[in-house]
Amino acid sequence: MRTLFIAGNWKMNLSKDESCKLGEQLRDAVGDAGDVRVAVCPPFVFLDPLGALLDGSPVAIGAQNMHPEIGGAFTGEVSGSMLKDVGCEYVIIGHSERRHVFGETEDFIAAKVTRALADGLKPIVCVGETLAQRESSETQQIVCRQVESALNGVDNDAMSLITIAYEPVWAIGTGRTAAPEQAEEVHAIIRSLISDLFDSGVADNVVIQYGGSVKPDNATDLLSRENVDGALVGGASLKAETFIPIIESARSIMQMGQQ
Ligand code: 13P
Repeated sequence: MRTLFIAGNWKMNLSKDESCKLGEQLRDAVGDAGDVRVAVCPPFVFLDPLGALLDGSPVAIGAQNMHPEIGGAFTGEVSGSMLKDVGCEYVIIGHSERRHVFGETEDFIAAKVTRALADGLKPIVCVGETLAQRESSETQQIVCRQVESALNGVDNDAMSLITIAYEPVWAIGTGRTAAPEQAEEVHAIIRSLISDLFDSGVADNVVIQYGGSVKPDNATDLLSRENVDGALVGGASLKAETFIPIIESARSIMQMGQQ
């Protein structure tokens, strides 16, 4: 059955007090999330208090990044097992800011996906084209290459733990959302690629989130599309007033589908 998965990527925002307050608001508001999965991805330093605060609630926590090595002399880095230790269920891997601001390569991203799975984490693998790539009609080629490379070491069974987030770079933090038809088109391409790389059962079940300026006023339209299985929300996940309505949109869509 279809699931919708709404995750908040807080990026490098909020203080400890603000993070905990938002965590409490979400825990109280989400209550029984029903068929909607919800997660928040705070900065590393707030994972531990958030993990404790949300323990036993339907709001899961995830990290925004991890290092692909088990441990050792990697100053400033955090391993997958450390994330697991503080209660993380998810980890975002290959976010466009990691690719474009920090120069992460496709091989490095693939290594993180493999390690995350070995450490018992569920990767949220981000892919997406830049504006220049879209304008030169390279969207399909870029997105397919990113998906194929990131999933290089993943087998059919482990695919049930993977979420793919399609985040067009030109829509992130710009207020310029992909039109629902544009998102749907790329999501369908990704699903068909997953069917080719794995099989149609894997493709039917893989969760493909959309990310890029998702707000309360566009969430229903995006989430209603057949191949859009959730949202990875940046700016609008920083406030209960904007994040909760997105979760509620997902819940309404699930309820309508069950009638
Ligand atoms: P915005 O929702 O702020 O555009 O960010 C999207 C994003 O990058 C989520 O990972």
